Amino acid sequence: MCVITQNARMQTGNMALFPIYRGRRLRELPALRRMFAETRLSADQLVLPLFVRPGRKERRPVASMPGVSQLSADELVRDAADAFAAGVPAVLLFGIPEKKDARGSEAYSARGVVQEAVRLLKKELPDLVVITDVCLCEYTSHGHCGVVGKHRGGRVILNDPTLKLLAQTAVSHADAGADIVAPSDMMDGRVAAIRTALDRAGHQQIPILSYAAKYASAFYGPFRQAAESAPKFGDRRTHQMAPPNVEEALREVAMDIAEGADIVMVKPALAYLDVLYRVKSEFGYPTAAYSVSGEYSMIKAAAANGWLDEKAVIMEMLTALRRAGADIIITYAAVEVARWLTPCRT
Ligand code: PBG
Repeated sequence: MCVITQNARMQTGNMALFPIYRGRRLRELPALRRMFAETRLSADQLVLPLFVRPGRKERRPVASMPGVSQLSADELVRDAADAFAAGVPAVLLFGIPEKKDARGSEAYSARGVVQEAVRLLKKELPDLVVITDVCLCEYTSHGHCGVVGKHRGGRVILNDPTLKLLAQTAVSHADAGADIVAPSDMMDGRVAAIRTALDRAGHQQIPILSYAAKYASAFYGPFRQAAESAPKFGDRRTHQMAPPNVEEALREVAMDIAEGADIVMVKPALAYLDVLYRVKSEFGYPTAAYSVSGEYSMIKAAAANGWLDEKAVIMEMLTALRRAGADIIITYAAVEVARWLTPCRT
């Protein structure tokens, strides 16, 4: 019989005779609580998403995401430098192109917004880890993550023709100097296609952070305003995962690892802690959680109304992601959090 059960049994008898487990003993002092915290959150684990747009000295606030702006590359370098100085080691770039077309050609143009921003970032901040989001939805006129074609009388996103364009996008990011590429499109086989293309282009050392278990979530609403990437018709449910499923998430992750993913992601984070826990415990792979736009904006909105304590809620939420199994966390609050965690840094 285990000790705890034995104690519990004895407690139901004569309370005075036997030691009682008292959880409060190790909670009495702040320093004790610090010593026995089982989960630690550190700025080293944070990634800040940034939105880059064409132009110079441009800073356009995103209405649905207080504190987040679309930035021209020069302004982006400034924000990235502040983040790095605050202790955030990495940024994740999304692009808003000059013009969109049916095949999202600015996504894989050597002179695209993201490619230019990556070159500037790596020149100005060589130690910052630059991760690039690889997807077509911000670049296509229809707002879908791939090439649209006809099937059974309706419009569908064509899987295999999209793979070529995604691979081209990833290679163009790596050519520009990206340190990690992060495919978020959810086409089948994209990790293998990107790995093969990167290797052929001489980028064997560039890791792939795969949005492996990415759900078709209503929590992406504010982001689609920020990235101007809402689909013009239909939705993303034919390729992103259905919220009720978790076994399927494990299959998606297993496939992406087999295809060569170096880091796997669960997205969104807060409503998918069970998925995060299972992915981390079954694969033991470097695991990322993406605390998405809706998670951020709902806290900002509640805090603005005086309904929630912003700092306390954000810290509790991010700690929960770590407890569930996240090694790294992508969050729009990365800079504030880094400052809260390391108050003596600039
Ligand atoms: C697709 C992409 C999306 C997000 C990241 N990459 C949106 C979508 O799938 O529609 C959402 C991130 C967020 O909500 O913060 N390129």
